[in-house]
Amino acid sequence: MAYEVRVNGQRKYRLGVLGSGKGSNFVAIADACASGGIPVEIGVVLSDVADAPILDRARERGLPTQHISPGQFRTKLDETAEQAYIAALQKAEVDLVVLAGFMRILKGEFLRAFAHKVVNIHPSLLPSFPGLEAWKQALDYGVKVTGCTVHFVDQGVDTGPILAQQTVPVLTGDTAASLHARIQEAERVLYPAAIGALARGEVVIQGRQTVWQKGASI
Ligand code: GRF
Repeated sequence: MAYEVRVNGQRKYRLGVLGSGKGSNFVAIADACASGGIPVEIGVVLSDVADAPILDRARERGLPTQHISPGQFRTKLDETAEQAYIAALQKAEVDLVVLAGFMRILKGEFLRAFAHKVVNIHPSLLPSFPGLEAWKQALDYGVKVTGCTVHFVDQGVDTGPILAQQTVPVLTGDTAASLHARIQEAERVLYPAAIGALARGEVVIQGRQTVWQKGASI
């Protein structure tokens, strides 16, 4: 099936951000919005963790936040929580759901409510090293180049259509921490740029491919 994500007519393209942790990607995106670097606004920031620093970073910037309990499961949202997340994002009238370190798998009802409108950043060059601690997987495997990937979210784990990727070298003497830090530095550039391209309608998704309009690139 072919589908497209395009910039809105009048009002700014609006993001709903979901995160569970530190929020460094969120900060990079929010700062790019505030400086006018990307033509988007942040409608709401949601977290499954009540004291997640990402909520503090959002409040400091005067953005609406909400903690929504994930319910009874460890790795996903239960039905009540899923409905609450959908309702909060719909109320904020978001055009794109941005996962920024959200540690819950989103499936079924949620992805149907925001069909082809959920993006994530993963700390490896997918399809290599999906899942947890991808930087550690890369180091243990012995690759010389890894990176980060912005992708649309589908029913699988880190399997959706790829929007943008950035390579990062693995250097002699790297530890898991040093490699992770280098990847995160790349993430903070790639993620805002990819979201900006979506907001400007410079990239559309067609089935498993994403197609960049003539002349557009990150
Ligand atoms: C990011 O580094 C990203 O790779 C992964 O979760 C991490 C979240 O970090 N999806 P932060 O909360 O943005 O600092």
